[in-house]
Amino acid sequence: MTILVTGGAGYIGSHSVLTLQKAGYEVIILDNLVYGHQDLVETALGTKLIVGDTCDRALLQQIFSDYQIDAVMHFAAYAYVGESVTNPAKYYHNNLVGTFTLLEAMLEANINNFVFSSTCATYGVPESVPIKEEQPQNPINPYGATKLMVERILQDFSHAYDFRSVCLRYFNAAGADPDGNLGEDHNPETHLIPLVLQTALGQRESISIFGTDYDTPDGSCVRDYIHVLDIAQAHILALKYLLNNGKTDVFNLGNGSGFSVKEVIDAARKITGKEIKAVGCDRRAGDPPALVGSGAKAQKILGWQPEYSNLEDLITHAWQWHQKRHSVNQ
Ligand SMILES: NC(=O)c1ccc[n+]([C@@H]2O[C@H](COP(=O)([O-])OP(=O)(O)OC[C@H]3O[C@@H](n4cnc5c(N)ncnc54)[C@H](O)[C@@H]3O)[C@@H](O)[C@H]2O)c1
Repeated sequence: MTILVTGGAGYIGSHSVLTLQKAGYEVIILDNLVYGHQDLVETALGTKLIVGDTCDRALLQQIFSDYQIDAVMHFAAYAYVGESVTNPAKYYHNNLVGTFTLLEAMLEANINNFVFSSTCATYGVPESVPIKEEQPQNPINPYGATKLMVERILQDFSHAYDFRSVCLRYFNAAGADPDGNLGEDHNPETHLIPLVLQTALGQRESISIFGTDYDTPDGSCVRDYIHVLDIAQAHILALKYLLNNGKTDVFNLGNGSGFSVKEVIDAARKITGKEIKAVGCDRRAGDPPALVGSGAKAQKILGWQPEYSNLEDLITHAWQWHQKRHSVNQ
């Protein structure tokens, strides 16, 4: 079985490639390297990397004619929520046009199994938590809107064509390969755990807590953190589900509970042994108090069993990675 992984040089894509390889699949990565890391593909994965863009229809046709691809896992996207508000054209082009170009090329080449990286951002401000898949989807930024539009296209394709897909709506991806060979390295970084660990490493002076007066147990926002290897595992299960003729469907990847910003910082202080200065700031517009997803459907239908998504594993694995990456980049 050969799987084309778009965005496989990025954070979640690279961990999924590793997991696919360990499960015995052949993998080809397509990544434009705008945010991906070629060095990690070479050192940690050693798989075929095609440097190119999902908007390049001719390249996609070439790939589908050169290789016998059984399924596509599509991670490639831009994912900076704030930038999507100030530059929506960039997001509609990359996340929507890029995905649509890929889907058309797949139809043309008769490749009909697709696993898509969707997001909790498609829900917008939730009516209640934990969020289940049937809750209304009202994204409050263009990033979430691009992902919801792709979800709609995938539904329409599965009604009209011999084409099946699984949308995995992830909550907050975190953690790293426990062996320390892969991890999160976004630039700019906007995710809480890496920012906290950069503070522990002295790369930042302090970590900001946006909002300390929310209606949550300690006043700071609560988010649902999923270990990147648990997300990768869900992709393998989704792939097997599709290859066993499973019907088009959507699944949340959430733990049903979350951790507050203050809990994450406290846990990081214990694990790193560093002080980690934290500064309370005003709330950010559009930040819901709690974003927590129910993973019950993925557990029931895909058999997903998150293994590492406790705070200690998440931070310990990320810390091992950050220390190693930091020493490499010195
Ligand atoms: N990180 C999270 O917490 C999170 C949560 C929900 C959903 N997601 C989704 O998961 C996916 C992966 O996220 P990530 O955190 O690994 O991001 P990432 O930026 O680390 O990885 C994305 C990769 O895609 C590549 N890419 C982007 N556009 C491309 C294009 N048009 N053609 C080819 N390559 C392209 C980038 O170079 C990068 O390597 C994204 O689709 C994102 O929207 C992420």
